[in-house]
Amino acid sequence: MGQHDHESGPAGARHVPVALSRVADLLQPALADRPAVLVDATLGLGGHAASLLAAHPQLTLVGLDRDQDALAIAGRRLAAHADRIHLVHAVYDGIADVLGELGLSRVDGVLFDLGVSSLQLDAEERGFSYSRDADLDMRMDPSTGPTAADVLNTYPVPQLARVLREYGEERFAGRIASAVARRREKAPLRRSSELVELLYEAVPAASRRTGGHPAKRTFQALRIEVNGELTALRTALPAALDALVVGGRIVVLAYQSLEDRIVKRELAARASSRSPVDLPVELPGHGAEMRLLTRGAEQATEEEISDNPRAAPVRLRAAERIREVAA
Ligand SMILES: C[S@@+](CC[C@H](N)C(=O)[O-])C[C@H]1O[C@@H](n2cnc3c(N)ncnc32)[C@H](O)[C@@H]1O
Repeated sequence: MGQHDHESGPAGARHVPVALSRVADLLQPALADRPAVLVDATLGLGGHAASLLAAHPQLTLVGLDRDQDALAIAGRRLAAHADRIHLVHAVYDGIADVLGELGLSRVDGVLFDLGVSSLQLDAEERGFSYSRDADLDMRMDPSTGPTAADVLNTYPVPQLARVLREYGEERFAGRIASAVARRREKAPLRRSSELVELLYEAVPAASRRTGGHPAKRTFQALRIEVNGELTALRTALPAALDALVVGGRIVVLAYQSLEDRIVKRELAARASSRSPVDLPVELPGHGAEMRLLTRGAEQATEEEISDNPRAAPVRLRAAERIREVAA
């Protein structure tokens, strides 16, 4: 499927940014009526970015994506704002370097809309979907790094089992890893259909009634491993928060619990005091540096999910910097 299909064809028409008006409302106080800078760390097809640039005529946007195809599409979509956008091919854990190279030390807003884009999911040949046969690739940046097939065909069994258990929360991780090892002795796994067939055999039929499709968790685990998703987020989030000015805001949309847990912990740590609990007063410089803007994680409404089923798993969290970064 070519890029143009996503701009003008049905796939492009289907792409709706998740929680668009909520994201805009949360960022509004940090961006409105000033020459603000926003980092969109997961530019994707530029849906959120287009709306924010249109709403804030003085806004400069720094858009990152590790996927060159996404950057090309977003670049065309945002062409009307070309004089106030910087689109950068980068993994978001390089956020501090990207800002440094642009001569920007602090920013007013940050948006993370994590995971894969509809462009990536819909591109059959990239192998993200277990429902369509393709090479076992799953790289968000197809120009670099190991593929899902490399992981399956080269990892020692205990390491493969750990990936499936930790990143897929897969109960049958050991069983699946052993089945993969037996299979690859005969011939390497190459196609998603081969893996799906193996999973149907390895995952007990009885567990399907509660656990959903037997390939769902394994595909999630492989995607997280191939793209180093959690490692990148653990580095990127603190760097992004450190870059916010006082009054600056961050919004994060996570689609699976492992990512949401990282976001929840990082924001909670920064929104709580570092003074010892038994002290009656706040030690200077030890007060909370962020204020949470969401109570727990916000979920999509029924109405949004019926318009855009990909919003169903979203967990949205947001915070505002209220004090300078702790020394
Ligand atoms: C859900 S989409 C973003 C959609 C976007 N908000 C929109 O409205 O079009 C996520 C994007 O983030 C990118 N991405 C995911 N992890 C990344 C990482 N670690 N570094 C840079 N980009 C990443 C993916 O390539 C994908 O294009």
